[in-house]
Amino acid sequence: MDRLLAYMKETAAVVEKRLETLLPYADLRPENLHEAMRYSVLGGGKRLRPLLTMAAFDAAGGRESERQQALDAGCAVELLHCYSLVHDDLPAMDNDSMRRNRLTTHKAFGETTAILVGDALQALAFKVLGESAGPRAGRAVVELATAAGSTGMVGGQMLDFEGEGKSQVLEDIERIDRWKTGALFTVCCRFGAIMAGADDEALTSLTEYGNAIGILYQISDDILDMTATAEKLGKTPGKDKVVGKLTYPAALGIDGARNVVLEKSVEAKDAILGFDKQALYLRLLADYLLDRVS
Ligand code: IPE
Ligand code: IPE
Ligand code: MG
Ligand code: MG
Ligand code: MG
Repeated sequence: MDRLLAYMKETAAVVEKRLETLLPYADLRPENLHEAMRYSVLGGGKRLRPLLTMAAFDAAGGRESERQQALDAGCAVELLHCYSLVHDDLPAMDNDSMRRNRLTTHKAFGETTAILVGDALQALAFKVLGESAGPRAGRAVVELATAAGSTGMVGGQMLDFEGEGKSQVLEDIERIDRWKTGALFTVCCRFGAIMAGADDEALTSLTEYGNAIGILYQISDDILDMTATAEKLGKTPGKDKVVGKLTYPAALGIDGARNVVLEKSVEAKDAILGFDKQALYLRLLADYLLDRVS
């Protein structure tokens, strides 16, 4: 596990540095928008999505010459994820005032700016991906658009809101989690494989790994919402119950949801049984996420 922690730390630092240069500088006009974009992205996230991209790239035997493409693909998803968080926190959505241990973007910069930050981060994500992926850009852009769109992250967010206060039906919850969170996790793993030039079999295995980890991650987020402190989370806990969100722990209880997390972790590891020791970090990550506390 120490090896995973070191890999996570090292990757997060590389990602942070890359994001710094990909984002427009704050003294560029319109300064307020650029400052708010940097505020919303830099200094705080766990950078799990680019980490998954790099770990999948390594698992698929990616070459050094293609590492930068994988990194940029992971950073593109991180930018898109940050946009999703800024909009998710808006008063019209989850109405949160704390994120990554500080004020949410709309609390710090106002609602209009926060909406535009989200819009601009989404556009930047596609620009970064399109510019970096070379001959793979067309395919990669279509994959990210699908994962982010109305049958991916945004579709999941819609169902998440429509589900508030409704009865807890597992089928509905599974779709919400798969779309609002799983889609971006899966596309990260696919980008790792695609940028490594993996064959179809490896791509399918890494896709299955991403699917399982994505759902695992949202279930554990929902468990933490019920069990963790604001200090640990960096965001306000206890909110899902108040509005009656459809979640695994609400449907099955904390222990029941933990069992599903465990199942998903096993499913993720099973998906990559065919890989050799290069998939070590993906394997360790599937265990690490079982006990995450933030
Ligand atoms: C939070 O994502 C939103 C979910 C999909 C659960 P993260 O837990 O990855 O948040 P950051 O990026 O580390 O802040
Ligand atoms: C967010 O789910 C999923 C997104 C697509 C942003 P949550 O609403 O549970 O995420 P947090 O708890 O606010 O981070
Ligand atoms: Mg939400
Ligand atoms: Mg939220
Ligand atoms: Mg949550």
